[in-house]
Amino acid sequence: ISLGLVGSEMCIRDRARLSRRSVIRNSGIPMVQAVGGAPVIILLSAFDRGAWVGNKVGKHKESPMIFTVAIDGPAAAGKGTIGRALAARFGFAYLDTGLLYRAIGAAGGDPVAAAQALRPEDCTGPELRSREAGQAASRVAALPPVRAALVEFQRRFARREGGAVLDGRDIGTVVCPEAEVKLYVTASPQVRAHRRWLELGGNEAQVLAEVLERDARDTDRTTSPLRPAADATLIDTSDMGIDDAVRLAVDVVERRLAAQETPQ
Ligand code: DC
Repeated sequence: ISLGLVGSEMCIRDRARLSRRSVIRNSGIPMVQAVGGAPVIILLSAFDRGAWVGNKVGKHKESPMIFTVAIDGPAAAGKGTIGRALAARFGFAYLDTGLLYRAIGAAGGDPVAAAQALRPEDCTGPELRSREAGQAASRVAALPPVRAALVEFQRRFARREGGAVLDGRDIGTVVCPEAEVKLYVTASPQVRAHRRWLELGGNEAQVLAEVLERDARDTDRTTSPLRPAADATLIDTSDMGIDDAVRLAVDVVERRLAAQETPQ
């Protein structure tokens, strides 16, 4: 038996059930945990950063924390902002999978060879954020061998220890159909084009045309088209500030973490 005293909440759990997940769920308040009679003081700021520093006493061993948040949706819907906020909040790793396709599109030459040779250092640089890079990414992303070359890496990232957030187009449907949380983040094309225009400039009507073109290509392709997973939670950010959108997403993740802790 482990005794966990969390703020005003006191709970007695089977020792095997007291995992890092329960700590994250209850994070934000000081916690004293007694395991095998020996008290351990845990600093929750460390949990907020995702570092498990807890049980240094006794033979109790933590099970690894595997937890995937899959975020899909069209361009400029707010996936990245929500994904980064969730990763920071829960101490998960974050992967913007669009950057993989952008790097392949920007490489030029044979996209399949570029996908097979892709290295993490290829996926950085402000030029990858341009509208042109987005269009090139959308084109190479329609090629099945390009997608196939990236799937394993994304799956390994998703199931890494400590939790992971991935955003893209096919994360909840193809890359991680087993993800613990699936979000589909969307907004009207006009709102998304306006955001992209504020971010990257240019002619707003032209930006809207490009957004619609990219939506159509990403949605109509045969392999891994953009669509919500059947069990995804829909977040429409058309009339929503970023704080509200993040709060909604945090809530979904917290409820799922709590459900994992509840005995069946
Ligand atoms: O998320 P983004 O705008 O950076 O993505 C650029 C393009 O990459 C997008 O138009 C389609 C493609 N993409 C994809 O097909 N699958 C993903 N998981 C991520 C991006």
